[in-house]
Amino acid sequence: MTSGEHGAVPGPAVSAVIVLAAGAGTRMRSSIPKVLHPIAGRPLLWHALTSAAALRPERLVAVIGHGRAEVGPYLTKEHPDVHQVIQDQQLGTGHAVACGLEDTGEIAGTVLVTYGDVPLLTGRTLGLLAENHQRTGNAVTVLTAIVENPTGYGRIVRDAAGTISAIVEQKDATGDQRAIREINSGVYAFDGVVLADALRRLTSANAQGERYLTDVVAMARADGHRVGTVLAPDPVETEGVNDRVQLSEMSRALNARLVRRAQLDGVTVIDPATTWIHADVTIGQDTVLWPGTSLESGTEVGGNCVIGPDTTLSDCRVADGAMVLRSHCIGARIGVGASVGPFSFLRAGVVLGDLAKAGAFVEIKNSIVGPRAKVPHLSYVGDAEIGAGTNLGAGTITANYDGVQKSRTIIGENSFIGTDSTLVAPVTIGDGVYVAAGSTVTEDVEAGDLAIARGRQHTSKGWVLRQRAGTGSDRSARAAGALEISRGTAPQLPDTAGASENS
Ligand code: UD1
Ligand code: CA
Repeated sequence: MTSGEHGAVPGPAVSAVIVLAAGAGTRMRSSIPKVLHPIAGRPLLWHALTSAAALRPERLVAVIGHGRAEVGPYLTKEHPDVHQVIQDQQLGTGHAVACGLEDTGEIAGTVLVTYGDVPLLTGRTLGLLAENHQRTGNAVTVLTAIVENPTGYGRIVRDAAGTISAIVEQKDATGDQRAIREINSGVYAFDGVVLADALRRLTSANAQGERYLTDVVAMARADGHRVGTVLAPDPVETEGVNDRVQLSEMSRALNARLVRRAQLDGVTVIDPATTWIHADVTIGQDTVLWPGTSLESGTEVGGNCVIGPDTTLSDCRVADGAMVLRSHCIGARIGVGASVGPFSFLRAGVVLGDLAKAGAFVEIKNSIVGPRAKVPHLSYVGDAEIGAGTNLGAGTITANYDGVQKSRTIIGENSFIGTDSTLVAPVTIGDGVYVAAGSTVTEDVEAGDLAIARGRQHTSKGWVLRQRAGTGSDRSARAAGALEISRGTAPQLPDTAGASENS
């Protein structure tokens, strides 16, 4: 699947898109500027700018104000082509657009206005708006929506002929006007010359004492220009984010769109309600996403993979046919047909080779696991290189940290590391090596060698019969034929309940 959620739109030539993003966002109750809050892994502003950019306007302007100490650098870094204009005081949407035009003066041709906090508006709908605007020869075209509850929005007032005559804000509206359910989305196409002329004449004689962009509609009509509307195909596209309730609603709505897109592109999504796909994620055909899967920014999943349930992949590359079950992976590359999990954690810098395995309860960091190599159970592997076909037994640990610095563990091909081994880095283990179970390896081992690095076993014959006489262990040992061997004068244990019942 390709991300393309905002869609490249061939079509009408657009001189400028002005994205308003100077407002305070008070209701977010956040130290983060509202437009930088993410949904689908990207700031609200990214969504707005990406849709605007899909129209390929000659000029893309962001009007910023509140939070500009963070929003400005964000734009410089992530959207270097966007012109930043600062609106010092938020004197209203009309004033904001005037600020957006200030450094260029008048812009001839079609000028679109959108908001930085309206993340679901598609490039496609913006394109339809611009196309309708130009085809009808309008001076102003307003994107409208019909909603159940129009409270708070500007209402679309129409004349007897059904043509839009004005936009009236909630606070300025009469009772009759408040009953109108067609609302102003805040997205418009303007003739740039008509817009600039009207903006110069805006006043703040209204209930909020602001310079309303919406007044341009009535002014343009009074001047004899054509004014019209386009109804948004889906009202959700026009919804803005003002608080965190709306943030989660928009996040879910956008996610539903991204999940649906993946499904239509050939991905099986078992449970769309619990599957989260960020805007830039790509997924190949016939991959299955089980419930509780989150595919976060920077992730690319190949075809025929099985991901989930309850799996998060962030900034990961997963090749075709791989399987990741109930695991958390950040910054990992997972090879063709490789498998991960259940219950494993792959961290930055992990490259899991083709057909390799990171099994259950395994943590791997900054390591290369060669093709067909296996780390099947209960291991920590950090700062290591594991050659092709090597097997790490259950409980193998690379001791990569001495409290001050990290060191590397190198293991060759087709080696066999016995269970519960600790490989104390820096250490190099050659090709075709065997390490005995329970070893603590502190010295390099060369190709073809067997390393045994553990205490030799000592068995004390008949110890239980002498030291645990009368216990269940003693009885079982005797029943199994164990013979008492006298060993000096070792003290007897006091009688236990089990012992007295036999005496
Ligand atoms: C505005 C519209 C209203 C419409 C609604 C849709 C006006 C007067 N009213 O109302 O008809 O139904 O949007 O959501 O335009 N902003 C600035 N600088 C400012 C003021 C606002 O950048 O000085 C930005 C805000 O950050 C926000 C957008 O413009 O992204 C809308 O501002 P807001 O104050 O929320 O307008 P509404 O009262 O909702
Ligand atoms: Ca608003």
